[in-house]
Amino acid sequence: MHLSFAAFRRFSSFSVWIALAWQGIAQFVAYFFLQRSRAEVVSRGTPGCPGTPTGAGAGGGGSSLWQAPRGTRAKSDSASKPAVMGRVIPFAYQKTAATAPHDLHPEGPSQPHDDDRGIRLGPVSPSTPDDAPKASLDTPPAGTVERWAHDYILSVDLAHKLSPPPPPDAWEPVPVVRRLAAPGRPPELRVVRRAPKAPGPEAIRVPARRAELVHTFLHHELQAAELFAWAILAFADAPPAFRRGLVGIFRDEIRHMGLYVDHLARLGCRFGDHPVRDWFWSRVPAASTPAHFGAVVGMGVEGGNLDHAKRFAERLRAVGDDEGARIEAVIGEEEIAHVRFGLHWFRELTGADDFETWRAHLPPPISPILMRGAPIERADRLRAGFSEAFLDALERYEPEPRDG
Ligand SMILES: [Fe+2]
Ligand SMILES: [Fe+2]
Repeated sequence: MHLSFAAFRRFSSFSVWIALAWQGIAQFVAYFFLQRSRAEVVSRGTPGCPGTPTGAGAGGGGSSLWQAPRGTRAKSDSASKPAVMGRVIPFAYQKTAATAPHDLHPEGPSQPHDDDRGIRLGPVSPSTPDDAPKASLDTPPAGTVERWAHDYILSVDLAHKLSPPPPPDAWEPVPVVRRLAAPGRPPELRVVRRAPKAPGPEAIRVPARRAELVHTFLHHELQAAELFAWAILAFADAPPAFRRGLVGIFRDEIRHMGLYVDHLARLGCRFGDHPVRDWFWSRVPAASTPAHFGAVVGMGVEGGNLDHAKRFAERLRAVGDDEGARIEAVIGEEEIAHVRFGLHWFRELTGADDFETWRAHLPPPISPILMRGAPIERADRLRAGFSEAFLDALERYEPEPRDG
């Protein structure tokens, strides 16, 4: 068969168009599969890390450091959900649920004050409750401990969260009460309202499942550090020794984060490979005074840590994770001093340390049931300063309908 020149040109032109069309289709298909594989990598997280578990459990995971035991969580999360669920949190202030009058005075204020409690008032947050010191909307001055704490809480830089600069020496000369509503969240962290179910004692034989647990512990330490920084600002009128103690504990919590970050890396994961839940941020800022803060955090959450740390150290040892068990033991030991700090200041500020006085200082819906492990680690709790009578009452305590 012979083709004329014109027919040949038409045929060549047609071939070129066909070739171009095929090339376009091939590029589209390649692009589609490339995007899909990228999405899978993102959803799976770090290679070697199992990614986000799909089983949505009730509440915030299993019993752990800075975590309530399973089955004892708030019955209605919607009533007291974290203040902000997004990644990047705007600068905002907390509406607190004050439960007792605030009667502390700053020591030796050096400048005039705007009210009779010796607290300077800047532009005032309209959400500050009447029976708590007015919260200011001011940003603390640069170079002060207050500014350092403020910047840490609101930072959205993961490197800053994991390794903040040391605190400056200078404190703001005149105490200013500030109540930040929520922390900044780096884009690497995906905040969820309900955390996936925590892996059980058998599941953590698999390193990838163990990483889920360590990831949860790490986020608890981050919230702990942030909330001690929060207390530095919220309780600006507390005794200076109390506020200095908050700075010291903050630094311990940062060190604990480092231990978990390193162990997470050994397990093939990074911070952010799993979703996080800001449960403590949804509860602790309801503490309206240093005594309430000591009750909720020092005696409550960190007291419960003493039970949980021991139990998790044993679980990790049982599956052959000696380094994980060692980290739990180190952190559990250091938490004893944190609990002692909370107890000391609770006694100083309330004149009591019995179970009922403590319970009365837990802002609803926080219940004693959330503040104990099973079993209670009596020896460490006694070392921290709890009395036998307190521990008996804590052990006997039965949940009530309002508990959450
Ligand atoms: Fe800690
Ligand atoms: Fe602690």
